[in-house]
Amino acid sequence: MPIYQATQKNIKQAAQLIKSGDIVAFPTETVYGLGADAYNATAIAKIFEAKNRPTFNPLISHIADTGILEDYVQTDERVYALAKKFWPGPLTMVLPRKQHNAALDLACAGLPTISVRMPNHPVALALIKAAQTPIVAPSANRSQSISPTTAQHVQNSLGNRVPMILDGGPCHVGVESTIIDLTTKKIVLLRAGGIAMEDIATFLNEEVVVSAGNPNLPSSPGQMLKHYAPEYSTRINVTIPEADEFMIGFGKIDGHLNLSPTGDLAEATANLFAYMHIAEEQTKYTKIAIAPIPMTGLGRAINDRIKRASYKD
Ligand code: TXA
Ligand code: MG
Repeated sequence: MPIYQATQKNIKQAAQLIKSGDIVAFPTETVYGLGADAYNATAIAKIFEAKNRPTFNPLISHIADTGILEDYVQTDERVYALAKKFWPGPLTMVLPRKQHNAALDLACAGLPTISVRMPNHPVALALIKAAQTPIVAPSANRSQSISPTTAQHVQNSLGNRVPMILDGGPCHVGVESTIIDLTTKKIVLLRAGGIAMEDIATFLNEEVVVSAGNPNLPSSPGQMLKHYAPEYSTRINVTIPEADEFMIGFGKIDGHLNLSPTGDLAEATANLFAYMHIAEEQTKYTKIAIAPIPMTGLGRAINDRIKRASYKD
């Protein structure tokens, strides 16, 4: 069993693995990540291999200190303002990249841009600091399956493909970071996530436009329609489930599980992936149904994920 409690000693050992070119799964506030040294191409290749991830899909660089930004990416005032306001936290910024080497070319899938975020989790931050390098990390699950919000989810999905899983408990945000592209004149939302786009727009007093990209030919492959798909066929916006459906409720529309009986979107977000894992693992029902979720604030990220989950080829 590669699960280790995230003690100081184990975090140090994990940092040692990263430094020596291996991969480690670690907790963040959003979902668990599968990390490697951003400057080690062989280590980065191990991530793609373990996840079975296409190498045209770029990785996010996780940092613990904004001091590194200057050398790493092209910054402007907006970047520092957003960092000050939302970091550490579930905001990923896509920026023009400054460094070109084999490792970062692989991590960035050859794109001229790179995505960065500072996770709001003490274990992630301690690990990055101890490894003394940015850590590139996708979510720690096999490609096209539901993201992991507990160490056990990682173990179930990747098991012996990763030498060490640091256990920092369940992720308190529960859905991946919000990704915005700052390389264009208008800020573009590439992925709805743990920070509401309204909050970013209000803070900057600027419009944030939702990406109009082709979901099957995306600039950010997280936009792919079938990305979070569970094994069971999934129906959304359901108020009355069929007899063969495992129902995930929200607010007054109840189910076998309820994302948030009081209709709290943050609570619902934190529960979403864990409940989808439960729905996938149970065998009594052969289908999944999910109640309607409002399309405001964090509800946009929830709707995005469940829409993909319900996608049919
Ligand atoms: O919350 C999160 O963001 C988690 C935790 C571990 O930090 N990470 C995560 O990584 O969700 P991943 O690889 O599962 O999703 C990252 C998404 C992918 O869809 C990728 O295509 C997109 O970010 N991405 C990464 N770099 C990009 C870039 N330079 N331009 C456009 N999209 C990019
Ligand atoms: Mg992912």
